[in-house]
Amino acid sequence: MRKKPFPSWPIFGKAEEKALIEVLRSGKWGIGGEKNAEFSQAYAKWLGVRRVVTCTNGTAAIEIALRAIGVKPADEVIVPSYTFVATASSVLSIGAVPVFADIEPETYMMDPDSVEAVITPKTKAIIPVYIGGGPADLDRILKIARDRDLRVVEDAAQAHGAEWNGKRIGGDGDIAIWSFQSSKNLTAGEGGAMSTNNEEIGEDAWSIMNCGRRKDRQWYEHFILGSNFRMTEFQAAILLKQLAKVEGQMKIRDKNAAYLAKRLKEVEGIAPLEAYPQTTRHAHHLFIMRYDQNAFGGVPKEKFVKTVNKEGIPLAPGYTIPLHELPAIRNYSLPYVNLDYSTTKLPVTERACKEEGMWFHQSVLLGTRRDMDDIVDALLKVKKHSNELA
Ligand SMILES: Cc1ncc(COP(=O)(O)O)c(C=O)c1O
Repeated sequence: MRKKPFPSWPIFGKAEEKALIEVLRSGKWGIGGEKNAEFSQAYAKWLGVRRVVTCTNGTAAIEIALRAIGVKPADEVIVPSYTFVATASSVLSIGAVPVFADIEPETYMMDPDSVEAVITPKTKAIIPVYIGGGPADLDRILKIARDRDLRVVEDAAQAHGAEWNGKRIGGDGDIAIWSFQSSKNLTAGEGGAMSTNNEEIGEDAWSIMNCGRRKDRQWYEHFILGSNFRMTEFQAAILLKQLAKVEGQMKIRDKNAAYLAKRLKEVEGIAPLEAYPQTTRHAHHLFIMRYDQNAFGGVPKEKFVKTVNKEGIPLAPGYTIPLHELPAIRNYSLPYVNLDYSTTKLPVTERACKEEGMWFHQSVLLGTRRDMDDIVDALLKVKKHSNELA
């Protein structure tokens, strides 16, 4: 059994300490400080988009984004069901209706055919989620949206730095959302942002984030219904320092992910997810794999994960319940629509949650080649003894 811990997360040092003290001493902890504007500009430049608007977290970012593109109560928004709850709960929070599409078996990304199958006259938007850090099939999803005049909110909460056809994602749909929550590859503990190339949507997103104000107008004039979704200056100051570290960390993850994928060929029954050919860079927020219990003497996923954990390897079972089966979604009601997910059937998503999907967190990929070898050795050891576990 391996005793040595894998790299811890977040990674920080004197630069973050200094930045926090600077904000503290400035007395400008919220409005009036410059760090939010500075980070928004730096992140926009890094992504190669016109506009970034910061906010409290990724969940709020989805709500703001949906409102900024004009989604109204009772409108339908197509979302995957293999994702974090916020992708669908934010739709419900603004009174709109999440409609679930299935994922593709090899990539776990939203299946464009399944999206097309659930479009109705009430559909207003699609939220492709870049699960684990690789873009969804942007070409097909954008075409589906364009052909039917639908909006696209890219859920890039897990995909900082991912590229599609050689260009960073974040400006291809109408608006993209980001999370800087503790586990994310770019983090301030909590935090979120939206990015867009559409100035009008960007202005509306800024206004909704800031109580419905307009930049050039009076403080107590409120033009659209917004809320206080502002990020603090402390968070923005940390993010500026963390952003400088992202590229270096990505290079380490790229190398380890490629090596781990290569070595996993030795473990029959465990295969990393595939990326689309247009994915020129993956953010590796999660290293997601598909588990085939038949290759492990019928040992179910949950038992397999626990056994691997006992070997000192931080394998995670990932999402184990599809969103359309979560009590929070199933038991929610809206007064003007009949929300009934009891007949929703998404076979690939259900299999991914219950039987196949498992992952390593990005921080594991910040380790050494030896760490990757330890992972594969532990998997091979468990496989060797799988008949005793079944
Ligand atoms: C795919 C996805 N969407 C949305 C969110 C919500 O972000 P946050 O936790 O910052 O609210 C997360 C992160 O947890 C996520 O993984």
